Amino acid sequence: MNEYKKLTNEVGAPVADNENSITAGPRGPVVIQDVWLMEKMAHFNREVIPERRMHAKGWGAYGKLTVTHDISRFTKAKVLQPGAKTDLFIRFSTVAGERGAADCERDIRGVAVKFYTDEGNWDLVGNNTPTFFIRDVQNFSDLNRAVKRDPRTGRRSAQNNWDYWTLLPESFHQRTIVMSDRGIPASFRNMHFFGEHTFSFYNEKNERFWCKFHFKTQQGIKNLTNEEAAKINGMDREYHGKDLYDAIERGDFPKWTMYVQIMTEEQAKKHYENPFDITKIWRHGEYPLIEVGVLEINRNPENFFAEVEQAAFTPAHVVPGIGFSPDRFLQGRLFSYGDAQRYRLGVNHNQIPVNRAKVQVNEYHRDGAMRVDGNYGSTPAYTPNSYGVWTAQPEVMEPPLDIEGAMYRYDPKDDPTDDCFRAGGNLWRILEEDKKQVLIENTVADMAPVTKNIKYRHAVHCYLADPEYGERFTKAAGLDMEKVKELSKLDHNGLVRATLSSEM
Ligand code: HEM
Repeated sequence: MNEYKKLTNEVGAPVADNENSITAGPRGPVVIQDVWLMEKMAHFNREVIPERRMHAKGWGAYGKLTVTHDISRFTKAKVLQPGAKTDLFIRFSTVAGERGAADCERDIRGVAVKFYTDEGNWDLVGNNTPTFFIRDVQNFSDLNRAVKRDPRTGRRSAQNNWDYWTLLPESFHQRTIVMSDRGIPASFRNMHFFGEHTFSFYNEKNERFWCKFHFKTQQGIKNLTNEEAAKINGMDREYHGKDLYDAIERGDFPKWTMYVQIMTEEQAKKHYENPFDITKIWRHGEYPLIEVGVLEINRNPENFFAEVEQAAFTPAHVVPGIGFSPDRFLQGRLFSYGDAQRYRLGVNHNQIPVNRAKVQVNEYHRDGAMRVDGNYGSTPAYTPNSYGVWTAQPEVMEPPLDIEGAMYRYDPKDDPTDDCFRAGGNLWRILEEDKKQVLIENTVADMAPVTKNIKYRHAVHCYLADPEYGERFTKAAGLDMEKVKELSKLDHNGLVRATLSSEM
């Protein structure tokens, strides 16, 4: 053990003095010859890596997925076969705040899971809501600019946030969820999470099914009010991180029950709205939850930077039996994450232990900054080759997918089946009275700094979702109900034109 107590430099040579720099004379300047000092300062200057562009503030832990039910009729993925137990790493995050932001802000929460399966890593990168604000990847950077800092003031701006949200009617359902009591969870342990997108499964017979992933907390849903959250944020900005860490340390391992919803290809063709639109949900009454297993978290990381900050998840990482869907939002994500991580962590980030697959990795990628394995030694670096090295495995090929229509920039709002307010209205109608009141109060408080024209846009959306929702928001926000009714007769473009001026 004694050996470990000896301080060394970065290549193992002993360091003589870690307190007193070498100076020319007892009161003289420091000399460059103090190479230990140079190394120490130079390393420190490079210790900050870029934070994640979104979801910068987060906490992670290890756990396992145990499959308790049989869904092999839908998927051949080994990780989802009955009895399978798979190690995982999970990271929870807020979305808008930077790395130093407070945990208990009103926001959606990201939940990213990396399953270290026997067929390679499967990453499910979801949120604590079953839907999302927007549905085209083109909108994604704009959404983040609207919810992040204003370019002039450097401050977060409710005006920018609500201006953007209300110009995209498809964000209505998600707006309602974020403003509801669920907008500030009491802890990560007390919330559900979802894959959100439609993904696909294919079974041993190569039959495809569309699916959605749901994880329901076994700890029960608990949320914070604005007042409780404000108090906590003032005292402990790392409140959710501490809660998770402490629960694991005391052996109170949080658990979620995993479910899937399944839609056949035939059902999808006849579905009353686009089943691949992330702003829509599949109603449980029509597509019931099918139980899969239990996800448990049971071990804290040893080092935050190495394991949590350097964790890299991407929806592009799937395993045989699990696939994507035509969801245009998901398609955009398939590129974005790996690209961001090549910048944030480097091209070889999948060699970092928390990201490394537990199975043998045989790829032809070579070289690149920070290559820390043997770079495959003398193994041929090209394919095809005549040496029988690493051939593709056609047996894991997904079934072909029929695509319809001409290539074009289609606006989903032009789809006659598109209804941006149905799901938000349905949610309003099932809320208990006290939850309705909280939703209205939270929305009014959040929109307090916002100009009236934007409040009218939101009021119209509430009214279109459910007249009671519209009337109660309108009254609480001090708006004119007759005006809301008039504006609600306009189409989307008409409403936008009528509410452009803050003078209205
Ligand atoms: C087209 C839409 C989207 C794009 C382009 C996008 C892109 C990104 C990027 C670039 C990151 C940072 C990755 C990193 O630096 O490691 C990120 C993080 C994240 N995103 Fe998205 N995102 C999109 C939509 C979504 C949606 C719909 C969800 C949830 C279903 C989601 C969940 C997350 C989560 C949980 C993280 C944090 C992952 C972690 O803990 O490391 N994102 N996203």
